[in-house]
Amino acid sequence: MDSNKRPDTMERITTPALAEAFIEEQVAAVREQVGDKKVLLALSGGVDSSVVAALLIKAIGKQLVCVHVNHGLMRKGESEQVIEVFRNQLDANLIYIDATDRFLDKLAGVAEPEKKRKIIGEEFVRVFEEESGKLEGISFLAQGTIYPDILESDGVKAHHNVGGLPEDVGFEGLVEPVKLLFKDEVREVGRALGLPASMVDRQPFPGPGLGVRCTGAITRERLHALREADAILREEFDLAGLTSQVWQFFTVVPDIKTTGVIDGKRLDNWPCIIRAVNTVDAMQVTVPRIDWDVLEKITNRILNEVDGICRVCYDMSPKPIATIEWE
Ligand code: XMP
Repeated sequence: MDSNKRPDTMERITTPALAEAFIEEQVAAVREQVGDKKVLLALSGGVDSSVVAALLIKAIGKQLVCVHVNHGLMRKGESEQVIEVFRNQLDANLIYIDATDRFLDKLAGVAEPEKKRKIIGEEFVRVFEEESGKLEGISFLAQGTIYPDILESDGVKAHHNVGGLPEDVGFEGLVEPVKLLFKDEVREVGRALGLPASMVDRQPFPGPGLGVRCTGAITRERLHALREADAILREEFDLAGLTSQVWQFFTVVPDIKTTGVIDGKRLDNWPCIIRAVNTVDAMQVTVPRIDWDVLEKITNRILNEVDGICRVCYDMSPKPIATIEWE
């Protein structure tokens, strides 16, 4: 039987009880597969790797070694949440690597989007390999592969996730407990494992992170402004009850200057763009009509609280023709 094919008879995991049954089954399967050996997992903090981590912690506890690489392009508070949930609450074996300087130094002066993506992807693999090379006695590599990844790798769409590690890195085998599940099922399993809603219901976040939203050549100052503005947007969407209503939303701070004026003095600052989209498959998207008061509050907060931004815009463009990300 092709272990990468979801059997027609496999029931869709739609309830906590079904998720519990799946967890029980996978815990037994993982214990059987790895015995008393050690397993390594690149834990980005995204839904898939987080659910795999929680599942493996339940199955094999400290035999799992999680490595979280902070590439410096995470959203505000994200790496902190990974540490809090996995190290402090779930008592995981978690290695945290702050590789911010490495990534930002490599990216300095690079403006071309695909080149930026390539650098981030390659540097991620390099950091991960260096760190795993320091560890002894690791036999298996765990991955948060989900069923759409398998379907897409059949050639429909190039999968360009930062977590995409080369397969021939010398492990005895791969541990991929959620590879036959669809995203909604992974979330159901995550909830049953007790992961926080802010992690399980997280919106999609590109592997290259804020790197593709700080358009052109990334600078630390503009990246900082982007991260702060993004945090304000998320906070206000939460308060307005929009987080579960809008598929993906974020800010962009492009590499252009715009004129502002304060106390009669001219400013030469960046604009900040709010991007919000609704979609089923990310191929075609529409732009939601966000309440004017909400947009006004976000605008005022960004202008007052974020250094370097003097103009806020709402991106009205559907896909096609505009992609979701700005680059
Ligand atoms: P676009 O911008 O192509 O985005 O309309 C479609 C979806 O894919 C995400 N995206 C990425 N995800 N690595 C990723 O893992 C990337 O390089 C990347 N680029 C875009 C984007 O956030 C949206 O959800």
